[in-house]
Amino acid sequence: MKTRPLSQNDIPAIIDLMELGTPFVRPRTESDYWLYANLFSSTCPVAVDGDELVGAIIAFRSQDHPDDIYIQDVVAHPEHRRRGVTTALLNSVRDAAVSFTCSRLYLTSEPENAPAHHTWTRRGFTNVAGDRTLNGISVISDYKGAGKHRAVYELQLA
Ligand SMILES: CC(C)(COP(=O)(O)OP(=O)(O)OC[C@H]1O[C@@H](n2cnc3c(N)ncnc32)[C@H](O)[C@@H]1OP(=O)(O)O)[C@@H](O)C(=O)NCCC(=O)NCCS
Repeated sequence: MKTRPLSQNDIPAIIDLMELGTPFVRPRTESDYWLYANLFSSTCPVAVDGDELVGAIIAFRSQDHPDDIYIQDVVAHPEHRRRGVTTALLNSVRDAAVSFTCSRLYLTSEPENAPAHHTWTRRGFTNVAGDRTLNGISVISDYKGAGKHRAVYELQLA
């Protein structure tokens, strides 16, 4: 397995891959992936095993807070989970962050997503203190709008 930047040729395969991330991740449109491949590829790595796309991260450097990189979508193919695919992708995003001299990676998860919670915390992310706790996970109410409660995780870079 290796990682490389998302390319325009990956668009059909990444849409199929994102379908496998439901219910926590859903595919975006072809035109969204065109944008990610052509304007943001350095923070949108994919993992490939031979010719097969087995994982992807979609992330962006913030224009409003340029020290931050926000990770929007993460998926590993169900048959390739718990084999370090996401870890390799996170390392790629982290390398990009360092090259941009960013100081923080952050992301949100739905509080019911225990595998995601394990992944972020195992990789050194902190679960940001919220206003309630669900299954031991700290949650910020209405973080993404009314009723859209989210667990927020951040990794400070040296
Ligand atoms: C969450 C997800 C992206 C993790 O991807 P992955 O490639 O399996 O993660 P990794 O193999 O790199 O694992 C990272 C760490 O988390 C741990 N981990 C991952 N899934 C776990 C689980 N279900 N239970 C316990 N620990 C888990 C791994 O053991 C590893 O820790 P270690 O290196 O100390 O052993 C994957 O389960 C997935 O695609 N889920 C569906 C989509 C989704 O929920 N995306 C996140 C939305 S916020």
